[in-house]
Amino acid sequence: MNETNKPVHGMWTSRWVFILAATGSAVGLGNIWRFPYITGEYGGGAFVLLYLACIALIGVPIMIAEVTLGRRGGLSPIHSMGRLAEQSKVSRRWKGIGYLGALSGFLILSFYSVVASWALIYVWEAVRGLFQGMTALQSQANFEAMQANPWLMLGSHSLFMVLTMGVVALGVKRGLERAVEVLMPLLFVLLVVLIGYAATTPGFAEGVGFLFAFDFSKLSGEAVVIALGQAFFTLSLGMGAIMAYGAYMPREIKDKKTGRTRPVSIGSSVVIIAALDTLVALGAGLAMFPLLFTGNLEPAQGPGMMFVTLPLAFGQMPGGVLFGSLFFVLVVCAAWTSSISLGEPMVAWLVERGRGRGAAALLVGGAAWVLGIGSVLSFNLWKDHTFLMGTFFENIEFLSTSILLPLGGLLIALFAGWVMKETQARKELAMKSFALYMAWRALVRIFSPLAMIAVIAYAIWSAAHG
Ligand code: PHE
Repeated sequence: MNETNKPVHGMWTSRWVFILAATGSAVGLGNIWRFPYITGEYGGGAFVLLYLACIALIGVPIMIAEVTLGRRGGLSPIHSMGRLAEQSKVSRRWKGIGYLGALSGFLILSFYSVVASWALIYVWEAVRGLFQGMTALQSQANFEAMQANPWLMLGSHSLFMVLTMGVVALGVKRGLERAVEVLMPLLFVLLVVLIGYAATTPGFAEGVGFLFAFDFSKLSGEAVVIALGQAFFTLSLGMGAIMAYGAYMPREIKDKKTGRTRPVSIGSSVVIIAALDTLVALGAGLAMFPLLFTGNLEPAQGPGMMFVTLPLAFGQMPGGVLFGSLFFVLVVCAAWTSSISLGEPMVAWLVERGRGRGAAALLVGGAAWVLGIGSVLSFNLWKDHTFLMGTFFENIEFLSTSILLPLGGLLIALFAGWVMKETQARKELAMKSFALYMAWRALVRIFSPLAMIAVIAYAIWSAAHG
């Protein structure tokens, strides 16, 4: 096998496209749906601070490791890991990182599409003005009625899966690159508009205070592990999405003006991605909490916050139809660019094994769609069929996000920190500052693996103790 690891799927046109694509993967339901409600549950500001620390100390180093492995390997995560294991002269079983990632991506895709498709339904409801003048009970009933309707959810889940795999089928340049170039700027504009709108509401100061007032008395050991898990999920780490995107990242790029080639740095790109992801999460909080406080609604709502409480707030506000619709369009865009990255590693692997992209996308999307039906039914017909962690949906979600992702992250950190030849890692990273490089190395060798073990141990412990 050659050392240069030539690309087969095409490359991103520029460093900025890589940054946009990886940010598109990172920014998703995790930022707009999950981050605000767990921040609400864990009391606001102090939790936010903890989360920021987790992003900087665990998320960024592991993301750097994942991009490094990807760019070094140049292929789908499965084949990249096989190649890297060979080059490092270790067992080819390290390929398991790729298989594990493809599996977690596939499982997550199946239910991610279902939850994202609720936002699709909500766009339609918001546009029709359904939220206007609703009471709290009616909003709850509206959410429950949607979940009780398997056909409606099946339809929207199907539509979302077609949107996702349609982009993947078009390939890196014609599909992924074009999608993020349109959707990401749109997402940022929508978010700014919605924050601007929130700023005009009377609850704005209270919302800001809630997000940024650091009340440390509310913090617990549990909050630490939750913040860690969230930092990890929101950066799309541990399943190969970022590794695959790293494989499409050029090593150097020609400066249009000077005509000279410049190396494309992994470290600074990752810092930008993590910063943008964090800004969107905080921005989503800034757009949502003021509306809740304006409507005298509780911030500690749990998962229903976006689908029950927020529509209620929109329903009471001037301009609520317009801004409510825009909000759910924002959610759909964010989820779309994330779900694309969930499907890409497995599709890229099938393409390398000789399938056409279209056929591979159809296969992966079709299978994830079928599995997703289990999640659709978990909210209605199979609601009472619970085992282990609860419904089918809850089991798939727990297995993939609480066990498989951190396990993938652990193995990636171990490989990048301990297995891969130091010279290789150093060359690929090409960090200018030796001190920063050493800091990364220490974090990825010791700190990140310990943190991942803590997350997995906590997940198993909390599962066992109900
Ligand atoms: N980061 C995405 C989000 O925050 C979810 C995701 C996880 C996407 C893992 C890809 C891989 O919603």
